[in-house]
Amino acid sequence: MGKKLKRFEQLKSFSNVIQPKLSEVLCKSFFLKNNWHNEYFKNNNPIVLEIGCGKGEYTVELAKLYPNKNFIGVDIKGYRLYVGAKQALLSGLTNVAFVRTRAEFIDSIFGQNEISELWLTFPDPQQKKRWTKKRLTSALFLNKYNNFLSNGSFIHLKTDSDFLYHYTFELLKMNSIEIIEFTTNVYQSNLVRNDPALNIKTYYEELFVKLGFTIKYIKWKTKNVVLKELPDEKIEELISIYPRSVIPKRQLF
Ligand SMILES: C[S@@+](CC[C@H](N)C(=O)[O-])C[C@H]1O[C@@H](n2cnc3c(N)ncnc32)[C@H](O)[C@@H]1O
Repeated sequence: MGKKLKRFEQLKSFSNVIQPKLSEVLCKSFFLKNNWHNEYFKNNNPIVLEIGCGKGEYTVELAKLYPNKNFIGVDIKGYRLYVGAKQALLSGLTNVAFVRTRAEFIDSIFGQNEISELWLTFPDPQQKKRWTKKRLTSALFLNKYNNFLSNGSFIHLKTDSDFLYHYTFELLKMNSIEIIEFTTNVYQSNLVRNDPALNIKTYYEELFVKLGFTIKYIKWKTKNVVLKELPDEKIEELISIYPRSVIPKRQLF
């Protein structure tokens, strides 16, 4: 059996990994929706979510830093989730879970006000206008997150991408969303000295830093409004101003 298949097999037996069936997310009948506190964590501590968590560095490291909060990492790739889930089990962390699903289904997984904070760590910038539907900071996704984040929750975006940083910044500004912190260079800013969470480095982040990219960060506060998407011309303008950061494919695993 290949390494990938072995990981998929092992993942099934991990007590901290949930792999919802397509039928559960499509029919919105997922058993833990609205029940994460009682049924899974068995406490009332706030739940912090990481979407596109990859190998789950944020989920695991934040769980160690903040034992009085619960953490859930979501990614579609089981092969990557495996790494974080195994680490959490080996470290005996009981405040961690991983969910293997598509971000598109995220509001079928969590109920109203169930999540109190969200991290988006190095999401794919989806740097083509027509891919706005896949961009994890698009109005479409921010509106989805509002279905389960309590009003006034913090969302954090960490990215290497100038395009994604400026796109998100402009979208938030246009919708009058309160931006709490922002920097185009995390490791040159004071923020990193005041917030230990910002020092956590993900797998992709390490790669981007080695390649000389600066790391950008925005933290904002959710508001109970329906957000509007940036006009097409604005997205096109940003695409033309900020070239894509191209990483050789062989470096991505
Ligand atoms: C560039 S990687 C970043 C991974 C990790 N956060 C890191 O910084 O190392 C983007 C991650 O998002 C996941 N992803 C992309 N689109 C997704 C979607 N629609 N639903 C769930 N996961 C998605 C990918 O599988 C991948 O692991």
